[in-house]
Amino acid sequence: MIGKFRVGTGWKMNHTLAMARDYAGTLAAAERPEEIDLFVLPPATALAEVARLLAGSGVRVGAQNAHWAEKGAWTGEISMTMVADVGASLVALGHSERRAHFAETDLDVNRKVRAALDHGLTPLVCVGETADEKRLGVAVATNVRQARMALAGLTHAEAARVWLAYEPVWAIGEGGVPATPEDAQPIHRAIKQAVVDLVGIEPPVLYGGSVNPQNARALAVVPEVDGLFVGRSAWTAPGLLEIARLAVEARADAGA
Ligand code: PGA
Repeated sequence: MIGKFRVGTGWKMNHTLAMARDYAGTLAAAERPEEIDLFVLPPATALAEVARLLAGSGVRVGAQNAHWAEKGAWTGEISMTMVADVGASLVALGHSERRAHFAETDLDVNRKVRAALDHGLTPLVCVGETADEKRLGVAVATNVRQARMALAGLTHAEAARVWLAYEPVWAIGEGGVPATPEDAQPIHRAIKQAVVDLVGIEPPVLYGGSVNPQNARALAVVPEVDGLFVGRSAWTAPGLLEIARLAVEARADAGA
């Protein structure tokens, strides 16, 4: 395992400012497991407020996406400078919903990783194969390509600051089928090896895709799984804390 076990959530396009305040307030006041590095990725509209409410709590706050350019004529986008400016420390990049609906390419993700690092942010790079890629037997190749493209050109020291998440597209969202530990383990291994071969660093690789209270324990004890990146099951603060608690419990039981 690389560093503390991480448990976090992206809210996607959910939560008004009032709901975001409630979530952050609950999380700030809650007893949080020390063994876990918690993170929350609110929508851009709530980023500053959530970062403010969780400042000093140890819970990391991040953006769900940001642009690689410093500033300029990019209507609708936010820059890494803006993300860092409001007190966020993390930025998810290359989520499959960004790749599928906003045509983000591996090259875009590479530029964004570069920009995030240049602004002192931790990039959380999402990789994952589609159901078709899995069916055709190119799951490993897809994940390795996406991971290598994301980190290409980084120095050893820069690569050491990057987190990855394996998020099989077929596992994400309503109708997604969560990956089993047996599905996830070989891909996590392949992603780690690809990064070791590229820059000599074994990165943390989180698992994401329909993580829920039923499967969190089993996924949390896979040795190559360094954290859980949760969507729906952590859209409430108690939901996030419950997954974190289950991960702690399972890992303690497994002696991890
Ligand atoms: P889900 O989302 O847990 O709702 O499947 C996961 C993700 O998109 O990271």
